[in-house]
Amino acid sequence: MLIVITGGTKGIGQAAAIKFAQNGYDVALCSRNSEESAAFAAKLAAEYNVKTLGMGADMSLKDDVLAFGTAVLQQWGKVDILLNNAGVFLAGPIFEEPDGHLEKMMETNVYSAYHLTRQLISALKKSGNGQIFNMCSIASFMAYPNGGSYSITKFALLGFSKVLRAELLGQNIKVTAVMPGATWSASWEGAPFPEERLMPAEEIAKILYDTSQLHPTAVVEEIIIRPLLGDL
Ligand SMILES: NC(=O)c1ccc[n+]([C@@H]2O[C@H](COP(=O)([O-])OP(=O)(O)OC[C@H]3O[C@@H](n4cnc5c(N)ncnc54)[C@H](OP(=O)(O)O)[C@@H]3O)[C@@H](O)[C@H]2O)c1
Repeated sequence: MLIVITGGTKGIGQAAAIKFAQNGYDVALCSRNSEESAAFAAKLAAEYNVKTLGMGADMSLKDDVLAFGTAVLQQWGKVDILLNNAGVFLAGPIFEEPDGHLEKMMETNVYSAYHLTRQLISALKKSGNGQIFNMCSIASFMAYPNGGSYSITKFALLGFSKVLRAELLGQNIKVTAVMPGATWSASWEGAPFPEERLMPAEEIAKILYDTSQLHPTAVVEEIIIRPLLGDL
């Protein structure tokens, strides 16, 4: 069994890589940092006795997305789970943010998932019980201060997820939109909140894993998970 994770060296992606490797899954992951990706993949392989690929690929660039997908297909003919997780959060109201924020986040948060899913869909079909997770956000269904263009891209990713679900109906591929609230990760480093105000990334990994283990006839279409104390 193989899980493909974009943005797999930190935060939620990293926690998911560990959770699935612990449970015997091969892991193919990428980040923009080749060395970190390779080192983390090698560590997973050594600790959990699974096959791994760790590659440097910038998911905001279509050529890099396709190079990552090609490497996955060369090493494994079949993909069981695709976790479209890579994403960036550039805060700001849309009337004040620098020009280009929307484009950068559309490329990283949305187009990456679109291109990689199209490339890997045949390999996912070979699984017979394939699963696509799209890492959306509570920003996929609500606007909030400073969410600006990030929220636009996460609404779009939820739209992508709904279209995939409709188009893949009857093809034995599950599609799940994951919408977490604030979750501890590198992107929150230095934020002035007590630790208990955010969810640990491991909890998101746990729910991904549990969802992936449901009976082949059952799909969780949407997951909304928030800090118990509410949004930040
Ligand atoms: N944390 C939250 O509160 C939260 C809440 C809701 C949704 N999310 C979503 O969950 C996903 C993961 O978030 P996170 O908080 O875990 O992020 P994170 O800790 O910042 O980690 C992001 C991961 O993606 C990689 N990455 C970033 N840009 C990339 C690119 N252009 N190409 C390839 N890899 C890239 C990073 O490595 P490099 O930087 O080395 O490339 C890192 O491995 C994102 O889509 C985010 O929007 C997060």
